[in-house]
Amino acid sequence: MATKLTVLSNGSLRVDGTDFELVDAQGNSYGLAGRERISICRCGLSANKPFCDGSHKNHFEHNAVAFDLPAPGTAPAKPTPPPAAPDAGGQPLG
Ligand code: FES
Repeated sequence: MATKLTVLSNGSLRVDGTDFELVDAQGNSYGLAGRERISICRCGLSANKPFCDGSHKNHFEHNAVAFDLPAPGTAPAKPTPPPAAPDAGGQPLG
């Protein structure tokens, strides 16, 4: 199985696969006990970093929508913001 990383909205970075290794800043491997799915914290609130422990719930907002990065050495990517939500009266917000 190819390794797949999924950016979850309002949550972690999920890693699925059988051929990946997670290492610390010194290159030492985390023991994953044969797991083929792990979730990496991207909110900074986990007490078990780098793993997600669910602390993000109701404390982290990011609508994960894929976009294309520019070629290396060019201007940084700017994700397209989602369309404005209409207000209670159905009028677009300003
Ligand atoms: S993303 Fe889940 S605790 Fe940070």
